[in-house]
Amino acid sequence: MVIARVGVVGLGTMGSGIAEVLARCGLHVVGVEIDRNGMARGRRHIERSSERAVAGGKLASTDRAALLERISYTTALTDLADVDFVIEAVPESLDRKAEVFAQLDKIVGPEVVLASNTSSLSVTEIGVHTSRPGKVVGMHFFNPAPVLKLVEIVRTVVTEPDVTAQVVAFAERLGKTAVVIGDRAGFIANALLFGYLNHAVRMLEQHYATREDLDAAMRLGCGYPMGPLALLDLIGLDTAYEILDSMYHQSRDRLHAPTPLLKQMITAGLLGRKSGRGFYTYDAKDSPVVV
Ligand code: 3HC
Repeated sequence: MVIARVGVVGLGTMGSGIAEVLARCGLHVVGVEIDRNGMARGRRHIERSSERAVAGGKLASTDRAALLERISYTTALTDLADVDFVIEAVPESLDRKAEVFAQLDKIVGPEVVLASNTSSLSVTEIGVHTSRPGKVVGMHFFNPAPVLKLVEIVRTVVTEPDVTAQVVAFAERLGKTAVVIGDRAGFIANALLFGYLNHAVRMLEQHYATREDLDAAMRLGCGYPMGPLALLDLIGLDTAYEILDSMYHQSRDRLHAPTPLLKQMITAGLLGRKSGRGFYTYDAKDSPVVV
């Protein structure tokens, strides 16, 4: 499998981070969004993130310019006709992902592997909407994708073993460490992480401790880079809710029953960093401001 040109469908927080990772490794990326606003938001995200990489000494500014040039943007899925690999990163809705995969199946070449960045949906259920379920895998990146090293490769009962091996090699080419797992709700990391995050929201909802003390406890007491509420703001409360809801429906484990406060905040438009306010309020540079 020679991969030089990759399609990324959905340029939200994860899709744009994945596009940046790919372009940084010299790959040409075709990013697909639903409309011009989505395209502009994705481009802004990549520009800002790569600017941060330059500021942090992780990237030369000439390499940044080349990286940005390797990414093209479109609203037409049919522009993926000549790609060698596709990573889908649209919102966590099985219907939406199934629709995207069914369309992609008709557009890309028969040997092209279709990967989903789903966080919690069944890759098997996504793959059956194509004529090539043996070439469908999960490729789950972590936020921020350019910084975090892990990629979970999810194989279904029908994924061809060669395809799994090729996708592991591809993740390694991107500078990531791959772990391979079966198709189980939340895979490894989210299955372990989201019960903890949900519990933190419940503790806040019950006025058990302040947001600052909850976060400080896990940062300073356990050495986590961020406390759970700050991390939820980074992930996006709507995304976190969808992941919890999907895991709860698959496992019926009460640990994953979304805490009502999450839903209330989403309804009020408090989605975290991406909307400027979640558990904390953020300035234009994404730094928390005390309110
Ligand atoms: N490319 C490469 N490097 C970059 C970069 C980019 N685009 N942007 C930033 N960096 C580098 C910076 O240079 C810096 O490097 P340094 O530590 O060597 O100086 C490092 O990344 C951190 O960047 P910042 O200094 O800008 O930010 P912070 O120090 O505040 O760290 C953080 C932010 C990386 C988000 C860190 O707090 C962290 O790792 N938090 C935990 C995140 C986490 O748990 N994510 C998983 C969420 S779950 C998930 O994603 C699953 C999904 O299904 C929802």
